[in-house]
Amino acid sequence: MAIQDERVCFTLTAIIKVENLRKTYGTTVAVDDISFEVAEGDIFGLLGPNGAGKTTTVECLQALRQPDSGMMNILGLDPRHDAPALRRQIGSQLQESALPDRIKVWEALDLFASVTPEKLDWQVLLEQWGLAEKRKSTFASLSGGQRQRLFIALALVNNPRIVFLDEMTTGLDPAARRIAWDLIRSIRERGATVILVTHFMDEAEKLCDRLAIVDRGKIVAMDTPQGLITQYASEVRVIFTSDFADLSWLHNIAQIKKITKSGPRVEVEGSGPVLALVAASLVEHGITPTDLRIEQPTLEDVFLKLTGKDIGE
Ligand SMILES: Nc1ncnc2c1ncn2[C@@H]1O[C@H](COP(=O)(O)OP(=O)(O)OP(=O)(O)O)[C@@H](O)[C@H]1O
Ligand SMILES: [Mg+2]
Repeated sequence: MAIQDERVCFTLTAIIKVENLRKTYGTTVAVDDISFEVAEGDIFGLLGPNGAGKTTTVECLQALRQPDSGMMNILGLDPRHDAPALRRQIGSQLQESALPDRIKVWEALDLFASVTPEKLDWQVLLEQWGLAEKRKSTFASLSGGQRQRLFIALALVNNPRIVFLDEMTTGLDPAARRIAWDLIRSIRERGATVILVTHFMDEAEKLCDRLAIVDRGKIVAMDTPQGLITQYASEVRVIFTSDFADLSWLHNIAQIKKITKSGPRVEVEGSGPVLALVAASLVEHGITPTDLRIEQPTLEDVFLKLTGKDIGE
């Protein structure tokens, strides 16, 4: 009974529900039977290699593409039939965007604000996104990162309940990326839900409450970042340098799965208390490396395991 109650509770707070979504372009199956739910107020990530179907999925949800089949419910609306009502409540930063070359930064914000009933003060957005100095600059004169910031500000101008950000931080410098992360958290704090499409593992790991890993049009795993790491990449790496040629006795430690030696650099992979076990065994053999350290598994390890490739490959 308790499980049933929990399910009812989750369903009630889901702001996005997608079931068996499918979209083809000729013979290319871009989205192949995708289903997921997003709880209100979450930052939900879609992570996957190039061509996985992420943009197609989020653009179907924003009523920008028509899926072949499947069910979509966003804010109680069906993007296929309620596009105008839906657009009033969502903010979109698209992967491919453009504005007229001669439009000025402030004019673009003012224009977007003028067609929305519930608007934020765009002067504040100018400040928040570091565009105040560029307010009179034309779109053509902005750098790639400045254009990106403008598109994010434009996505927020209607005070949306759901914000779709597709490759938001691509092209931003490291400082701007950090600012963007803080601002995404502040979007959530305001109560909005964020759908984040990204290639950056650190971004997904740090920002997302839940995330789906998409590969070849399918969701291959979905959970919290830590849940994915625990489930798919429990092995840790212990790294140190040693001039000892023969370290084969380390294999006597049952928890160790693999030892890789490259010159003096030794990398030991295993699960459980590997660091303590390796340290004890090294000391026992008279080896006391000063650089012994542990690397915890990351989302990158999960991604590699599930898709067999590095992101961007
Ligand atoms: N308008 C289109 N016409 C034909 N094929 C398309 C179109 N848009 C996307 N595709 C194809 O659909 C597949 C999924 O593309 P999509 O843009 O959804 O991937 P993505 O995961 O967003 O990739 P990226 O990380 O490169 O942005 C790809 O094989 C792509 O070539
Ligand atoms: Mg894309």
